[in-house]
Amino acid sequence: MSAAFEHAKAAADYIKSQIGFAPEIAVVLGSCLGPFADRIEHPITIDYRDIPHFLVSTAPSHAGKLILGAVAGKKVVCLSGRFHRYEGYSYEQLSIPIRMLHCLGVRATILTNAAGAINLSYQPGDVMVIADHIKLFGDSPLMGPNAEEFGERFPDISAVYTPALRRLALDCAGDARVTVHEGVYFFFPGPQFESPSEIKAARILGGDAAGMSTVPEAITAAHCHMPLLGLSVMVNMAAGVSDAPISGEQIDKVGALIAGDFSDYVETIIGRMEV
Ligand code: HPA
Repeated sequence: MSAAFEHAKAAADYIKSQIGFAPEIAVVLGSCLGPFADRIEHPITIDYRDIPHFLVSTAPSHAGKLILGAVAGKKVVCLSGRFHRYEGYSYEQLSIPIRMLHCLGVRATILTNAAGAINLSYQPGDVMVIADHIKLFGDSPLMGPNAEEFGERFPDISAVYTPALRRLALDCAGDARVTVHEGVYFFFPGPQFESPSEIKAARILGGDAAGMSTVPEAITAAHCHMPLLGLSVMVNMAAGVSDAPISGEQIDKVGALIAGDFSDYVETIIGRMEV
């Protein structure tokens, strides 16, 4: 058995020992979706630090946690607190949460994130269903000896974001109070925001939104054939679109404003997912 599989299984077995049900859908909560956790009925909370072989948060005040319970009639596990390359985790380490979810038996995962809009027709507050991604830099979460228990050495990633889930998310857009697009997520490792020229290049290459998360997790999910939906919330126009500097404060403000409507949208999608 590979060490990666053994560790993911031990983490999942611990979680199973703490709950009396099998979660069907996982939701990774990006910066904008924190308040979504309040919607979980009958919540059971598990600190990341209590889960064997799991990652621990780099900011001690930011103890990450799993929250398990029910949303829209489905059994869910939410990851409140995610891990990024810019925090110093290796790409390989970023595979751990998704592999744990696979061992836990979840049938689909929703990855959410906050992103900067590259596409000039998008506006802050809009949501983008991720159709595909571009990652041109750095390593892969699948580097190193292949863990055969999860998938093949050279996985096909031509449909990472499951077409049926993308269609469902677009179908749910009509009832949502957010404007929903479908587009391409361009991964930048951060932690600095991009230069205006990098964003211009990303736009020419076909990127619609820029962000620093999601893609390492998405590649890991593709490797273990996990159905996946990716949703990005535009919290700013990306670098160079306006003369105004990109400010973390402004981003937090937009994120807080949109959190309720975005959470409603995600809840609608979960209610209509067939798992
Ligand atoms: N770029 C990258 N990541 C981001 C941005 C951005 O403009 N906004 C929020 N996350």
